[in-house]
Amino acid sequence: MTQAVAEEVAREDASDARLRERIEMLEQRLRKRDEHRRALLHILTDSHQSNLKLEQSRKAMIHIMGDLQKTTDDVTRREKELREKQAQLVQAGKLATLGELTTGVAHELNNPLNNIALFIGNVLDALDLGVATPDLTKKQLNNALLQVAKATEIISHLRTFGRAAPASRESVRVNEIVERALSLMDQQLRGRQIQVKLDLSAADPRVMANAIQLEQVFINLFANARDALTDAKTRRIDVRSAVVRDTVELTFSDTGEGIPEGLEQRIFDPFFTTKDVGEGTGLGLSITYGIVKDHQGTISVLKRPPGEGATFLIQLPLAGASATEGGAG
Ligand SMILES: Nc1ncnc2c1ncn2[C@@H]1O[C@H](COP(=O)(O)OP(=O)(O)OP(=O)(O)O)[C@@H](O)[C@H]1O
Ligand SMILES: [Mg+2]
Repeated sequence: MTQAVAEEVAREDASDARLRERIEMLEQRLRKRDEHRRALLHILTDSHQSNLKLEQSRKAMIHIMGDLQKTTDDVTRREKELREKQAQLVQAGKLATLGELTTGVAHELNNPLNNIALFIGNVLDALDLGVATPDLTKKQLNNALLQVAKATEIISHLRTFGRAAPASRESVRVNEIVERALSLMDQQLRGRQIQVKLDLSAADPRVMANAIQLEQVFINLFANARDALTDAKTRRIDVRSAVVRDTVELTFSDTGEGIPEGLEQRIFDPFFTTKDVGEGTGLGLSITYGIVKDHQGTISVLKRPPGEGATFLIQLPLAGASATEGGAG
């Protein structure tokens, strides 16, 4: 073989090898492309199915949204009804308290009525005995008149309390309102041998408040303490008021069993009661909470060891120096 031929053969061999290489590469590409194609097909099928599912979900969603709209309308309507019912219940709750108070007040009225009978009896006796002088008669009748005024005051106090409370606020003396609430409850508490100790701030703090509503707050707390003390050995209620910076702090403590652990928040819920049917509506504290909050105040239960009584703390903002307009409380 000549050198030229040998070189030609070598070149052809090299070219063959390159060709084979290329063919292999092409075959590889073809295989890959086939794989891609299959994967794509798979994805397309999946996607189609997903689309179908999506369509179904969309339809279900529209259905649910329709239902939801109906439910929302229902809830709104029920909420409105509930609010109306609650307002009625608040007034009913107040009237129930009033009914309860009436028993005590009947006792309280007895006192001036007896005195009136006594003074009139004195005048009649004097007339019978022929010793009636204008002076003596006038004195006895004046005494009787004073007792009438006392009875009228008791009744008018009750009537103001029973009215749907007006929303007006004025600067009122907290201590005085505590005392007024107590005067309405006094008979009931004394009748149950419950001792009440007042320790009221000498600063005689004032708050911007609706006197009737605030009185209702204190009556509710006295009533709860009264109920908590039914079976207690020591029966005492301590009420304190104090000025702490720009707030008035009031605490109502009793020597009952206290609030069961874990219920400290729930007792403020409307209708939460541990009392027997007919003995409690569970509205007292929820009304109380609402009134205190309305007055920019807070009410909470202070932690005390189990069985050592309950303490409620009320904080109300002090009336500012400019808050004295609006007359007496
Ligand atoms: N001083 C207290 N000591 C112990 N438990 C109390 C005291 N005050 C309230 N509670 C608990 O909180 C519950 C809710 O009180 P709330 O005044 O709201 O309702 P109620 O007293 O049960 O019923 P209502 O006030 O309508 O007559 C009571 O049932 C009682 O379990
Ligand atoms: Mg109550």
